[in-house]
Amino acid sequence: MNHPSSSARCASLVLVAIVGVAVGCGGDVARQTWENTYAGSGEDLFLVDDDFTCLGDERWDIVGHSRVWNPLGHQNEAVDHARQRSLGSYPVGTVIQLFPGEASVKRGRGFSPATGDWEFLVLNVDSGESVITARGTTDIGNAAGSCLSCHGGAQAFDYACFTNTSCVPLPSFINTTVVPADDDPRCR
Ligand code: HEC
Repeated sequence: MNHPSSSARCASLVLVAIVGVAVGCGGDVARQTWENTYAGSGEDLFLVDDDFTCLGDERWDIVGHSRVWNPLGHQNEAVDHARQRSLGSYPVGTVIQLFPGEASVKRGRGFSPATGDWEFLVLNVDSGESVITARGTTDIGNAAGSCLSCHGGAQAFDYACFTNTSCVPLPSFINTTVVPADDDPRCR
């Protein structure tokens, strides 16, 4: 169920989410029913709106400016991989967020070869709850371009940047140090 008027009003949402400032775009963004398109038979992680919570929650380990969580029991492996910036794949089920409004989820093997099996999500958290407004692979992006257009620069590191120089950089005016209590309405 899409509400065209709220989509239009929220057109600037992604930029707002990047900057980490909760302005504009009220809490009236409708949740949608998303279908799990994973066709494989192995381990996989398909998250829905309420699975995304405050970036200050204990579940997250902080690496650089980002937060890492693996609900499939591979937390240590995921965090080690990120801290050491190892080459190759993150374990299936790894969720990484830099900003409250964007997330990358490592899906099951074969989910999306073009993105290293990462699913990219855009979230609206203005209401204090998470609403997934877009999810996919090569087709997902923000005001600066597609997620893959920047993250592709870190392909050897499984598309995870972890510094502002290893991928196509974020504009320098963007503050990448998210303080959950200030920048994430779900934490209040
Ligand atoms: C303009 C280039 C650019 C675009 C577009 C972009 N990113 Fe990033 N992203 C970066 C950079 C650079 C970092 C690392 C910033 C830092 O840690 O200082 C980053 C960090 C991240 C992180 C933290 C883990 C990591 O890779 O460092 C996640 C998760 C993330 N982005 C998801 C997304 C998603 C999802 C999209 C699309 C909706 C997206 N990004 C679009 C450049 C971009």
